[in-house]
Amino acid sequence: MNNQNRLGFSLSVCISFLLLLQPFAGGATATLPRIISFQKGFTQLFGGDTNLLRSGDDNTVHLHLNQYTGAGFRSSDMYNHGLFSARIKLPSEYTAGIVVAFYTSNGDVFEKTHDELDFEFLGNIKGKPWRFQTNLYGNGSTSRGREERYTLWFDPSKAYHRYTILWTSSKIIFSIDNIPIREIQRTDEMGADFPSKPMSLYATIWDASNWATNGGKYKVNYKYAPFVTEMTDLVLHGCTSNPIQQLSTDNNNNNCVEMDKQLETIHYNNITPKQRAAMKRFREKYMYYSYCYDTLRYPVPPPECVIDPVLRQRFKETGRPNFDRRHRRHSRKRSHVLTFEQSDIRNSR
Ligand SMILES: *[C@@H]1O[C@H](CO)[C@@H](O)[C@H](O)[C@H]1NC(C)=O
Repeated sequence: MNNQNRLGFSLSVCISFLLLLQPFAGGATATLPRIISFQKGFTQLFGGDTNLLRSGDDNTVHLHLNQYTGAGFRSSDMYNHGLFSARIKLPSEYTAGIVVAFYTSNGDVFEKTHDELDFEFLGNIKGKPWRFQTNLYGNGSTSRGREERYTLWFDPSKAYHRYTILWTSSKIIFSIDNIPIREIQRTDEMGADFPSKPMSLYATIWDASNWATNGGKYKVNYKYAPFVTEMTDLVLHGCTSNPIQQLSTDNNNNNCVEMDKQLETIHYNNITPKQRAAMKRFREKYMYYSYCYDTLRYPVPPPECVIDPVLRQRFKETGRPNFDRRHRRHSRKRSHVLTFEQSDIRNSR
């Protein structure tokens, strides 16, 4: 592609992104099943009164990290499949070493055989964009990391964006706003690596200086504290389930049949061709690591991997993109993000 074509390509990509986001901007919450107040749906885990602050209407939670502690909460119930979603604003400025996690897990109940689905935001030094990863574990498969890492097409500290985890009996979809960014179809070969036991939703902010940013090179700098992440309009929509009961009686599973059907038809599960195209573009432009292309780690990709030839070529054998090419694409993309999304990237460069 010569430069001009490349420019045209990026331009149309950005415009399509905007068109996709448009219809969602106003109706983001209207199309979602259920917004749950903190009191109704959640329980504080840590952070005391000082580091977890709730709004007057109880639909917004601020989680602080300072030199004394972070903060976190979880859903009071556990769900056997569900839609878990929140609008989240991340801390701004210097955020190295900080992890903001929005995830489902049952690690408190099943220590050795836990299931987990993650959004993990990994902070960054001032001037560099936030990075994040998604991951999944099933039945304690922690030796089989299934990470993907990405940057974003917007600055997540400037405004709220909706992050959603959909977990049904047949698939998992991670979405940001109206864009699905990762889809995992259950395959028989995955076996229990596909999460199968009831999970709670968790949200936390904590100091992960030893690994979060550039593998621990950049630590949390408390000169910039407190670091505050804001979460609002939380959604829990799934079959509430007692994990112990579920294991002892098959009957409990029947209660979830109706909800499982509903989750198969919920709008997050109906990826339109336009959204699918946006997902492909997102993955080609913003994903900088995927276990599916890391043949040093997995000579044979795990069974759920669907190999995209474009990405296969891009990532070569390390799961990381070829640097030169990536660098060129990156700088060009940025200028368009700047023009069309009025992002704050200019300030940060
Ligand atoms: C989950 O792991 C445990 C312990 O390794 C094992 O006994 C059990 O059979 C596994 N469950 C499934 C459904 O494979």
